[in-house]
Amino acid sequence: MTIRHFLKDDDLSPDELIEVLDLADRLKAERAKGILDVRPLEGPKTVAVLFDKSSTRTRVSFSIGISELGGYPLIIDSSQSQLGRGEPIEDTARVLTRQASAIVWRTGDQSRIDTMAEHSTVPVVNALTDQYHPCQLLADLQTVRERRGRLEGLTLSYLGDGANNMSHSYLLAGANAGMHVRIGAPEAFQPDPAIVEQAWALASDTGGSVTVTTDPAAAAEGTDVLATDTWVSMGQEAEKNDRAGVFNAYSVDDALLSKAAPQAIVLHCLPAYRGLEISASVIDGPQSVVWDEAENRLHAQKALLTWLLERSG
Ligand code: CP
Ligand code: NVA
Repeated sequence: MTIRHFLKDDDLSPDELIEVLDLADRLKAERAKGILDVRPLEGPKTVAVLFDKSSTRTRVSFSIGISELGGYPLIIDSSQSQLGRGEPIEDTARVLTRQASAIVWRTGDQSRIDTMAEHSTVPVVNALTDQYHPCQLLADLQTVRERRGRLEGLTLSYLGDGANNMSHSYLLAGANAGMHVRIGAPEAFQPDPAIVEQAWALASDTGGSVTVTTDPAAAAEGTDVLATDTWVSMGQEAEKNDRAGVFNAYSVDDALLSKAAPQAIVLHCLPAYRGLEISASVIDGPQSVVWDEAENRLHAQKALLTWLLERSG
């Protein structure tokens, strides 16, 4: 039995990534015409969607997406489940996989979702961990392709907390797509060196590249895509005071955006904190594509689930 999981960005090969993005584009175009005839979850089959952390976009897009694929989204907040009271992940996996057709999980350390996948006989999808946010990257790459017509050869610059899940996913997914990925982050918040190395290995096959710098202007210079994220991720609330001030030079404001290519687009996975990692003038301005990006979570995840289910079993 083959089971395809999506636990981190490079669980899809470069060709498979394009297949998923092409399907996402098709599903989006058909939906706009009222056509919803891709229904791999018809029955309805159930997808268990578990949250150990807060969510708006991920919860909404998986709920609606699973329904549109003909299935039933079973949304479980861990605070209301035995998993949240310490039931082993292995046992939770054994119970869920006998009843659900896929498992989607937002949790903390990546090792938790790896354990879930090891004990699951249905596809497991990472809906954000401390280390990666690969579903977000599918939506981001779909958005970039819509605006630029391609991914290969484009430069994508991420500014802010280089050690967080979005930074790591930009590194892997961007390199997988043949992009030139730049991370601009303070010395104390640089990406995990093992992930940078992995991104380089991917980039050497796809024609992309990886640059990590502490210089925000150098990271933004001439870039095609400027991206940022909160400076205080979920679970880091106690570090908020220590982090205050460290990232100010990396704020995506008009001055930083002016260093990018004239037609550069701006991404933010949301939720955004205006006046901190991004200015109101930029996120609400003409180069921002964050609302398309948020909508594309729906189309990209529908494509991903369809693709994983087709190849598992
Ligand atoms: N971007 C994102 O994952 O948003 P939520 O935390 O609201 O799901
Ligand atoms: N880095 C953020 C992303 C939120 C979607 C966090 O983990 O909180």
